[in-house]
Amino acid sequence: MPKAAITATGHYVPPDVYPNAWFEQRLDTTDAWIRSRTGIAERRFASEGGASDLALPAARRCLEMRGIEAAALDCIIVATMTPDRPIPSTAAILQAKLGAINAWGFDLAGACSGFVYALVTATKLVEGGAARRVLVCGADRMSSVVDPTDRATAVLFGDGAGVVLVEMSEDDEVGVFEHVCHMDGEGATALYVPAGGSLIPADAESVAQRRHFVVQDGATVFRAAVVGMAEVIAELLKRADLTLEDVAWMVPHQANRRIIEAVARRLGLPLERVVINLDRYGNTVAATIPLCLSEWHDDGRLAYGDRIVLAAFGAGFTSGAVYLRWAIGA
Ligand code: COA
Repeated sequence: MPKAAITATGHYVPPDVYPNAWFEQRLDTTDAWIRSRTGIAERRFASEGGASDLALPAARRCLEMRGIEAAALDCIIVATMTPDRPIPSTAAILQAKLGAINAWGFDLAGACSGFVYALVTATKLVEGGAARRVLVCGADRMSSVVDPTDRATAVLFGDGAGVVLVEMSEDDEVGVFEHVCHMDGEGATALYVPAGGSLIPADAESVAQRRHFVVQDGATVFRAAVVGMAEVIAELLKRADLTLEDVAWMVPHQANRRIIEAVARRLGLPLERVVINLDRYGNTVAATIPLCLSEWHDDGRLAYGDRIVLAAFGAGFTSGAVYLRWAIGA
């Protein structure tokens, strides 16, 4: 069976670093609380631009790594919960900025599972012959939807983008092998933005009531994320006929270090084989997993043929996991 593979990566975070101390001066919080309850030490916030401006430099690096022009792309998928605008899609805006004149594309709203959903979609487009080269972007400017006065959410998120290129693998040994995706809409109000959509369009009242910011029941999301992520990984391993000993790296969505540790503990996976960078970036939502992949690749920590499991959980509730073997660096 022909397989699609990730053949290049790129990432971008804005230059301005906001350490926990920055919040200590503005909110009733401490560096010690944030570190111990989340594992986050600092994050980046963009001073201007939208999700497309975060994705653009990451996409350019990805194309550069592969040594192709933007015109060689035939599809762009942008996973994001912070699109530049309701319309047109951020994919269309990015297409123009990149000069990807031969690409169609769309945005995908899967929140923190957005990148996994987009990667699965791209894989199937490529394997089905509908596209040859799909640029899969996870990009979120969370600082645009997080209430800076709410200590329970303000400290958790950051801005960033990660991009991968998906195309047919010429090598049977590597590529995207298996996936599992789930959704449980019963969790819809545990993590959501109340206004700004068709249900409650923006008006003076919705703005005055601060209803355009992320609202979260942190404890409910925490519990659901631990159980959901552990379950989706276990299901994936079973489907792929893999054991944890086979897995070189687990790349979890980066929301909270305690969630990642609890998932690893449930599975019996040593933390040395779990990719973690949320201490430096916080939760960048759709960007976390490709940002990890790109960073670990750049640092030379991913080797050709490595068995890698990606796993995500997020608003919706959504969840998903992918098993792949690293195709870069043969
Ligand atoms: N600084 C200090 N105290 C804070 C705080 C902060 N930044 N944020 C919240 N608190 C307080 C709460 O107000 C609460 O105070 P109270 O007991 O007086 O009401 C107290 O800390 C404990 O809150 P609790 O929710 O039990 O803390 P927690 O250990 O569960 O951690 C989160 C809170 C938000 C870090 C945690 O629930 C979490 O990470 N949830 C999942 C979030 C997530 O991953 N979202 C993305 C989806 S993938």
